[in-house]
Amino acid sequence: MYGGNAVTMIPRWAKRIFKRRCISVGSGKGGPGKTTIAANLAAYLAEHGLKIGLVDADIHTPNVDCFFGIEGERMDVNEDMLIVPKEPAKGLYVMSVGNIIPSGVPILWSEEKVRDFLIKAFTSVDWPKKLDLYIVDLPPASVIELRTLNANFRKRHSTVLVTTGHKASVADCKRMAGLCLTEGVKISAIVDNMHGRFGSQGEKNVESLLKEAGNPPLIRVPDDPGMCVDGCYLYKKYEHKFLKLAEAVGVVF
Ligand SMILES: Nc1ncnc2c1ncn2[C@@H]1O[C@H](COP(=O)(O)OP(=O)(O)OP(=O)(O)O)[C@@H](O)[C@H]1O
Ligand SMILES: [Mg+2]
Repeated sequence: MYGGNAVTMIPRWAKRIFKRRCISVGSGKGGPGKTTIAANLAAYLAEHGLKIGLVDADIHTPNVDCFFGIEGERMDVNEDMLIVPKEPAKGLYVMSVGNIIPSGVPILWSEEKVRDFLIKAFTSVDWPKKLDLYIVDLPPASVIELRTLNANFRKRHSTVLVTTGHKASVADCKRMAGLCLTEGVKISAIVDNMHGRFGSQGEKNVESLLKEAGNPPLIRVPDDPGMCVDGCYLYKKYEHKFLKLAEAVGVVF
């Protein structure tokens, strides 16, 4: 299999893993709420009976563990030498490098190692047999990661782009949308996160992104000060937004 330039050998038995659906959550650059949206969507879907594998692809600066209060908890390896994912809620299985490498230790990996690790995050983990889909939290400027997912999941991979209304965030997200269009990655939805913070100009900015991205469904998640308290509370407060997002990514309950 090719994930960019390097070849990563995948055992035959593991190829079924890439037959599952994969939804990545990305943006252009840091901070608009990728992890927040990925974690809340995963928690929402798991609460509604799906089995979700949430993969933290932000390998140099992982955060998914923090959103579920499992930071510092190490993952076990089973008798088949597969990593046992964390299960912070029923039906929600989490694989984060934050649960492998202790906090504060720098992760100085090459592009090739990042690509290899991302593939192993699927093939070396003891995911439940009946997993419904993967959700992948992408890092900022995630060219390698997006290509690796696309090379392996192919048409089963689609993406959700997250932006705020700030013009810099929208400009970065436009580049990411351009990358998706160039690489043939379907953009399932755009999330205008922290909606309201940047007023009517923010809305105009996001609308211009929408056009360039081929008019996928737009989901507006309000700017909410309560976010400081609990990283995974948005889906409870704005359930209808996450239902709309779930529908946009093609989940049928
Ligand atoms: N809807 C919202 N309302 C208010 N604050 C929010 C909202 N969504 C996210 N935040 C806050 O914004 C900050 C950045 O969120 P998050 O870590 O999810 O962004 P990110 O895009 O994953 O960042 P990075 O690029 O560093 O991975 C966090 O402090 C989070 O609590
Ligand atoms: Mg993040």
